[in-house]
Amino acid sequence: MARVFNWQIGRSMSYWYPESRPKRQFAAVFDLNKCIACQTCTLACKTTWTTGKGQEYMLWNNVESKPYGFYPLAWDVKLLAMLGAQQWNGTEYAGRTLFEAAPAGQRVLGWHPEDIDYAYPNVGEDDCAVGVQQGAAMHLPHAAWFFYLPRICNHCTYPACLASCPRGSIYKRPEDGIVLVDQRRCRGYRECVRGCPYKKVFYNPICGTSEKCIGCYPKLEQHLQPQCFLNCIGKIRLAGFISTPDKADPQNPIDYLVHVRNVALPLFPQFGLEPNVYYIPPVNAPLAFLRQMFGPQVAGAVKAYQAAPQDPDLAGLLSLFGCTERLIVRWKRQGETVSGLDPSGAEVVEVPLREPVVVREAFDAKFQVARVNCP
Ligand code: SF4
Ligand code: SF4
Ligand code: F3S
Repeated sequence: MARVFNWQIGRSMSYWYPESRPKRQFAAVFDLNKCIACQTCTLACKTTWTTGKGQEYMLWNNVESKPYGFYPLAWDVKLLAMLGAQQWNGTEYAGRTLFEAAPAGQRVLGWHPEDIDYAYPNVGEDDCAVGVQQGAAMHLPHAAWFFYLPRICNHCTYPACLASCPRGSIYKRPEDGIVLVDQRRCRGYRECVRGCPYKKVFYNPICGTSEKCIGCYPKLEQHLQPQCFLNCIGKIRLAGFISTPDKADPQNPIDYLVHVRNVALPLFPQFGLEPNVYYIPPVNAPLAFLRQMFGPQVAGAVKAYQAAPQDPDLAGLLSLFGCTERLIVRWKRQGETVSGLDPSGAEVVEVPLREPVVVREAFDAKFQVARVNCP
């Protein structure tokens, strides 16, 4: 075991390999307030990468309803129970990570789902945290809550899948930090499936190897956003690259949201993997639930997001989500206009800070007709 620094938990920790950060780290921000669980992302990925035999149950991208949705079944609650108490001391994690909690002889604390756990990807969909009497939903703004959690591989800085493989079949690309399974080396030991806490490696019984989200690296190489990002109906996703906090650049959209404004947070940072998909937490869910999921900065993130309408920079950057197929690595706001830029500084896209809203008069004086359908 080596000692490595994990900025998400504010301290160094044990990991199987020494710290070795890629030249650039692929990262993404998902705005959970905008996800409508249409599953277009799931299908975009499925039809692109996992249509072959043995891949029927593989959802490299999935969307589950929290608190009762899981894919595979109970992936998070099972591990949270195994890990035990997770204390934070301010922004420093005082509990054990999955690497530090590994039983003797194992590299990471993990568990192996059964086949049946993959059988119901939509379990718990749209289930509220409390019961809602028929017709009462219109009068219960926050007492009953749920939210949608879209998930892909986090292309972690300290991947548990990579640490778990005894054959060294999993590697992290130095050019963009994408984590891949080498299909020629893999012998189907499935330690990666057991080790990944997010359960984002899938065993293919037909090929006898494991497969996972590839971050659409052939698209990234052409400065294009991945398929699940491009096809997102809710425009909740933004892909890019993240710096370490000491090198945070406010002109980098991911750095701005994660490091400068702390409005986008990692999923279960206490696991210790430094995952690189960041979530803007939903404003309608209880903070205690969100705190366990996204860490101690969640209250501040919710507050900042709620204040976005009075915050032109934050509102402006949020309006760049889902507005182009190209990767945006820089951004700037000038007055009421927000621009996304490519690595050379050339403008890729320009959007208005706020979409104009035009309200039609109910009565058209010129043509003397009423425009409303329901008087
Ligand atoms: Fe590996 Fe899982 Fe992290 Fe993806 S989310 S890099 S599969 S440990
Ligand atoms: Fe699928 Fe690409 Fe999205 Fe990964 S990044 S889930 S491979 S569409
Ligand atoms: Fe290794 Fe997982 Fe294959 S543990 S051998 S990458 S199934």
